[in-house]
Amino acid sequence: MTADTIAAPRAPHETPRPRGRGRNLEKLGWLYMRISGVLLVVLIFGHLFVNLMLGEGIHGIDFAFVAGKFASPFWQWWDVLMLWLALIHGANGMRTIVNDYVTGATTRKVLVWALWIAAGFLILLGTLVVFTFDPCLGVDSSTTDWLIEKCAAG
Ligand code: HEM
Repeated sequence: MTADTIAAPRAPHETPRPRGRGRNLEKLGWLYMRISGVLLVVLIFGHLFVNLMLGEGIHGIDFAFVAGKFASPFWQWWDVLMLWLALIHGANGMRTIVNDYVTGATTRKVLVWALWIAAGFLILLGTLVVFTFDPCLGVDSSTTDWLIEKCAAG
């Protein structure tokens, strides 16, 4: 088989690993895309349904709406799960595309590293935002009346 021929789908790998030695990271990545895809359908459509269709729908979305959601551990974990799964899914999907299309080994390495660094940074930042969010931080007389009242009430 030459380099530009695609192998038959079920053809054995040309250089098989010795049985049981080393983990097959590519297979884990392939599985991750399917499993996270299924979970993301539930998480993303649940998120869209609750935010856009229940209650006042899109017109009800403001600072108080977000503060209300982040006050609940259930929605904190829902959002963090969505964040982690989608960012790892997106980065791993982009890694596949980079590996498929970028022919230079150095460029490929740089791009794949950049992908994981960007995803890691966004996961860290997003997780911190969700779990440390405090609607009363910086609330003073310049803030909206209802927010001053709410925060003063504890
Ligand atoms: C409704 C939720 C989603 C489902 C069910 C889903 C499902 C999938 C599946 C099964 C694959 C693998 C395709 C293959 O190997 O041929 C994939 C690839 C990919 N997904 Fe998702 N995904 C979802 C959401 C997302 C999100 C939110 C992002 C971005 C953050 C994303 C970015 C990607 C990328 C970049 C690829 C690689 C495409 C390729 O290999 O050509 N997906 N998705």
